[in-house]
Amino acid sequence: MVKKGKLIINLDEVIGNINPNIYGHFAEHIGELIYPGIWVGEDSKIPNIEGIRKDLVEALKKIRPPVIRWPGGCFADAYHWMDGIGPREERPIRVSFWGDEETNQFGTDEFLKFCSMVGAEPYICLNVGSGSPEEARSWVEYCNYSGNSYYAQLRAKNGHPEPYRVKYWGVGNENWGCGGCFTPREYASEYRRFANFIKGFCVPFSEWGKIELIACGHTEREWNRILMESLRDYLYLVDHLSIHYYFHAYGGDIKFSDEDYFNLLLSIQQLEYHIWQAITVVDHFAEQRKNIGIVVDEWGVWYPEANLKSKFRQQNTLRDAILAASVLNLFNRYCRKVVMANISQLVNVLQALFLTEGSKLIVTPTYHVFDMYKYHMANDALKAEISSPIIKEPPSPPKPFFVSIPLRKLKPLAALDASVSINRERKELVITLVNRSLDEEVETEILLRGDREMEDGRKIILTASDVREFNDFDAPERVKPSEETIRARDKGFVYMAPPHSVNTLIVKLK
Ligand code: AHR
Repeated sequence: MVKKGKLIINLDEVIGNINPNIYGHFAEHIGELIYPGIWVGEDSKIPNIEGIRKDLVEALKKIRPPVIRWPGGCFADAYHWMDGIGPREERPIRVSFWGDEETNQFGTDEFLKFCSMVGAEPYICLNVGSGSPEEARSWVEYCNYSGNSYYAQLRAKNGHPEPYRVKYWGVGNENWGCGGCFTPREYASEYRRFANFIKGFCVPFSEWGKIELIACGHTEREWNRILMESLRDYLYLVDHLSIHYYFHAYGGDIKFSDEDYFNLLLSIQQLEYHIWQAITVVDHFAEQRKNIGIVVDEWGVWYPEANLKSKFRQQNTLRDAILAASVLNLFNRYCRKVVMANISQLVNVLQALFLTEGSKLIVTPTYHVFDMYKYHMANDALKAEISSPIIKEPPSPPKPFFVSIPLRKLKPLAALDASVSINRERKELVITLVNRSLDEEVETEILLRGDREMEDGRKIILTASDVREFNDFDAPERVKPSEETIRARDKGFVYMAPPHSVNTLIVKLK
């Protein structure tokens, strides 16, 4: 018997506006991400624009990247930005956090050029762990000051007289761990010092532009609580709180059991729990005075194949695309508080959107999800009620990677997962629907509640014969989306969601 589900869309119930930055990226100096994933140098045989891979720029532009976080990650708290400016042949080679010889060929000006080429906002992570407030302040001045100061002149000398106006600045990365092993109280006092000299009362706001600071949070509620408590009287210095979440140890990147597949998808509930706990903490301390957003500035799947030896490279299957689609649906549903998210990472590392081999570049199934979800950006998320067949009862608590992460009783896994948005003109609905069943299609009734009616539209479908399918350099298009039209009338239509598929349905309204 055909499995059945239902999606009721409430046109009059707006959850919030979907910040485009939810579809953000992360590019750390780690493995082969920067070299040669982004930077090949001007003299390379690999086609490039001022040293930056041309194929990457073209493919990235297509998905409209809103924001890119850089230079780390753990790399950031051991990075000194002055090493990466000025004539490239004079830049020092340093041993990076990850033990690599960092040539500093890709520094601040190259990163900001890359962002402008692809149309993304830059998000720079400052060095708190081994840096100083003075070093951080001068970096902001170098990027944003429009007057005649030493650092503004240096920027002009390096080819960019106009300030870059970088808006997003992270005050350290994972400062509870690789970013300095601070306690939350110690980090709070560092945060105050750093933020005060970047964003405090006497900082030339008008000159440096409006910047937003991101404080380092944790999946441990206690860290967030103590941090926010300690910063209670300094909330004017805090714009956002970040958390990181990696999905660890669910089989291998391409070799995994059905059980691993279901457990991976079930564990999205853990991420939801961590987002929820971070929201409760910031909302408690910020109260009416300030709306502090949650920034999930590292998220993604991390398989055992990705380690120091493999340069953090792993393959990316349709399973990863299904996970990414479900996580992005979750962020859309939490868009009232989740203001940015950055998948980890952009090229060649962890849940990458791109893989390179010499002059070749391929896109992964996860890339296609970002391409299919871009239609949500800046739309209003609508409340949608889903009823779905259940495909997996949760096992007794899954094995955690970090024992400190609290394990909760999970709810059963539903086949269908969705988020819905409406564009600003109120003329178009974007429905992203994931069918996570391994072998059964789901006949899904899509119904509109409200005084409008549906007209025809289009559907973009990402699936493959098996959830273990992936793209590689011999078959770069094994997993790719297809597009067809949809016949929608009156209050709805019935959509047959194929097994293990991600579906974007774009429907006109009248
Ligand atoms: O993404 C790889 C690393 O994972 C990052 O450098 C760090 O922030 C996280 O622990």
